[in-house]
Amino acid sequence: MPSYVVTGAARGIGHEFAKQLSANANNTVFALVRNKATSQKVEALARPNIYLIEADVTNYAAVKAAAKEVSDITGGTLDVLIHNAADIDPEGALFVLSEYTDDSQVEHFTKTFQTNALGALHAANSFLSLLSAGATRKAILISSGIASQQLNEAAGIATHVPYIVSKTAANTLWWKYAIEFKDRGFTFLAMSPGYVDSGSGPGDEKEQEGVRKLEAAIKCLVPNFKGKITMEESVRDQLETIGRVGPEYSGKFVSQRGNQEWL
Ligand SMILES: NC(=O)c1ccc[n+]([C@@H]2O[C@H](COP(=O)([O-])OP(=O)(O)OC[C@H]3O[C@@H](n4cnc5c(N)ncnc54)[C@H](OP(=O)(O)O)[C@@H]3O)[C@@H](O)[C@H]2O)c1
Repeated sequence: MPSYVVTGAARGIGHEFAKQLSANANNTVFALVRNKATSQKVEALARPNIYLIEADVTNYAAVKAAAKEVSDITGGTLDVLIHNAADIDPEGALFVLSEYTDDSQVEHFTKTFQTNALGALHAANSFLSLLSAGATRKAILISSGIASQQLNEAAGIATHVPYIVSKTAANTLWWKYAIEFKDRGFTFLAMSPGYVDSGSGPGDEKEQEGVRKLEAAIKCLVPNFKGKITMEESVRDQLETIGRVGPEYSGKFVSQRGNQEWL
């Protein structure tokens, strides 16, 4: 019975992971959510092989307690950690770096760093001993292609700074784990899901403006850019890649297809 932990499983891509993985009755899926009260979509799946567990990834004690719950059910093992939870920070995405001139704006860096970088540390450390006892020792960080310096340079993306800094920090944690756990059978892989319609969408006019700017930059780079892919396609491709990679991929940063084609 392969076991999977998915963080941030209440909605979006994390929920789609829980949905596709639990469709196979052989899998045991632990859906970690920030708030059980707003996780009706997971409950609605009504699958006997899904366990819903509450954990805000910024709260180290809560993530450790979630790992203990998983351990009690699996007998101390876990095969795959998919750390997906993240703060997308749509408002902080609007500014270029030189516009972060007061503390309220700088707060975007603190908030995204706490969730996206420290959250990744909390998740990895809390589940390490279970992964050690598991069959595949895979720790997957759902990163973002926008954390690629080459993509930013090529498309001239000067915005989305706190999110990109936090995702780059999380990627760094993952390749540092890969070094620490080298030759111990682990795969620490950072993976972009692609540019995905995850159902949240940009909120107000300002946020939509941010998305329009980003897409305009991407279109200059990729003239035949077709826009967002579906969650179904993204997660299907990610699971195919997760299934086929092994320790030779540890420390790498790849797209959902396992390469560096981010779009
Ligand atoms: N969509 C894209 O195009 C895209 C592109 C590149 C990378 N990504 C990455 O893919 C992953 C999923 O993105 P998405 O588009 O599905 O985002 P989303 O729709 O905004 O979902 C984010 C999920 O993370 C959870 N979360 C946020 N902060 C949390 C915390 N402190 N503790 C626990 N859970 C928390 C949210 O829980 P609540 O429901 O409680 O808010 C939600 O379930 C993220 O890592 C994102 O950076 C997405």
